[in-house]
Amino acid sequence: MSAASLGGRRIVVSAGPTYEDIDPVRFIGNRSSGKMGFAIAEAAARRGAQVVLVAGPVSLPTPSGLQRVDVRSARQMREAVIAQLPADVYIGAAAVADYAPAEIAPGKIKKKDERLTLALVRTPDILAEVAVHARRPTVVVGFAAETHDVEFYARGKLEKKKVDMIAANRVGVSGSGFESDDNALTVYWRDGERALGPAPKTALADELLDLILARWPA
Ligand code: C5P
Repeated sequence: MSAASLGGRRIVVSAGPTYEDIDPVRFIGNRSSGKMGFAIAEAAARRGAQVVLVAGPVSLPTPSGLQRVDVRSARQMREAVIAQLPADVYIGAAAVADYAPAEIAPGKIKKKDERLTLALVRTPDILAEVAVHARRPTVVVGFAAETHDVEFYARGKLEKKKVDMIAANRVGVSGSGFESDDNALTVYWRDGERALGPAPKTALADELLDLILARWPA
């Protein structure tokens, strides 16, 4: 494992799920543990970067040597991430909800009819916004959690969201995934790709940072 220095670089990492409130006691969430993003933030800080970790609701301790900003919803995560620009690198490892309730009910929704329809609206796409921002980081990296046609969707995301790299979770590899300590990634950029792992998320974090460094030397 290489440990090339990231000294002097400012890196913003998002991690974990978002929770989109339905009423005062319910929300729409997902099973992201935040482990991958926390591992990346921790590795970057250990290698000397100035790291801001924007974390959704997770039960993980704060790695040493970095600044953590806790948020709950996609909207809050967007505000927190944009407020941290400019930066050298943005790594969007959070599993941001794509849809949120159109409105949050002020009181607990009571059961009544057999069928209840919730109106949902699109959340802001933080990654796409960062990638075209006036204070765009030099390197913008996104993640993709796909169950099929991984390369097709990952490369589509590179183009559509105008990002520099997409790290796609390789599905079907035992032990990899949202709640696991291990993962397997295929990282795509415009004219290349690299398979990483399966390996502990801590090791993958360093390998991903090495890939970023190799393509954008100081
Ligand atoms: O399009 P999809 O949701 O699969 O893209 C995943 C990537 O986009 C991840 O890097 C995630 O953090 C980011 N994303 C985002 N804001 C959203 C949805 C996804 O930043 N609303």
